[in-house]
Amino acid sequence: MLVTQQKALRRFWYATVRVDTLRAGPAPFTLLGEPIVLWLDAAGEPAAAQDRCCHRTARLSKGWVTAGDIVCGYHGWTYDRTGRCVAIPQAPDRAIPAGACIRSYHCIARYGYAWVALEEPLRPIPEFSEDADPGYRRIYQFYESWKTSSLRLMENSFDNSHFSFVHRANFGQFGQPTPSKYEIRATDWGFEAETIVPINNPPQAYRVTGTTDAQTERHLFNRWYLPFVRRFGCHYPSGRHHIIYNCATPVDDGSLQLVQWLYRNDTEADCSTAELIAWDEGIVREDREILEATDPDACIDTSRRVEFHMESDRPGLMMRHQLMAMLAEQGEAEVHR
Ligand code: FES
Ligand SMILES: [Fe+2]
Repeated sequence: MLVTQQKALRRFWYATVRVDTLRAGPAPFTLLGEPIVLWLDAAGEPAAAQDRCCHRTARLSKGWVTAGDIVCGYHGWTYDRTGRCVAIPQAPDRAIPAGACIRSYHCIARYGYAWVALEEPLRPIPEFSEDADPGYRRIYQFYESWKTSSLRLMENSFDNSHFSFVHRANFGQFGQPTPSKYEIRATDWGFEAETIVPINNPPQAYRVTGTTDAQTERHLFNRWYLPFVRRFGCHYPSGRHHIIYNCATPVDDGSLQLVQWLYRNDTEADCSTAELIAWDEGIVREDREILEATDPDACIDTSRRVEFHMESDRPGLMMRHQLMAMLAEQGEAEVHR
């Protein structure tokens, strides 16, 4: 599936940039192949529009913000968050032509990020209950551009059979390649997948897992939110919760923006932010290396190569099934399989 070919994907919310980074000025981002500019309006709320001035096409992300409006750095044409041109400095006494506007997009702040939908969203931004729970702290972990596709990252997130290979030098048990089975429950927004995975617990993980046992386990309450958001809901026997949200924001057909943050139900003294980032960084590096070695054009036709389907591919197959159903429901004339 090539994401830029599926118009229905434009009707979902995606995490783009950290809202606090916009205090320094406008920022460019590419979403589903479309160059956009983000900035803060007069109320301090993020706004998003086409990154192309309607005068002579300059990128607005090269400009600046005045009183919440984005100013083109070429000749100063100025746009509000609806995309309407509100000032043409060269002709202050003339009416602004009706056609002087740029396309604007849905944009709101949530969980510290500016979320953007290119067209009327089909679903709300997913609710992450830990965010409002004072028992958890939020830790920003990774913000990286990866040369792979969003679906590849999503399917990998629910693939228990790669642990023993990709993460064999880490928590994966190379001698135990038979993966744990998931119990999967379909939801309105995707599915929940629960399983228990035995893992190695090297000394550098002791404060992450909350135990010094050589082995421990992860009780996973994972979720997939259509199309490209995933919850990794890990409960350790020690009582520590390690809840990761990954947004695989689709940049274009060959790359994604990894936006990852974490909720923990412990304190900085129990396990510091630096330790938590360092631990997950090793795992994320391993995933990135193998995913960037795959073809980003992920097939979504579940009827193909059925003889190759393994039990551990089941979540990935469910994703494809739900994606295809959604695309068909939205009347995609041609689904790129
Ligand atoms: S190109 Fe933007 S004002 Fe001229
Ligand atoms: Fe992995």
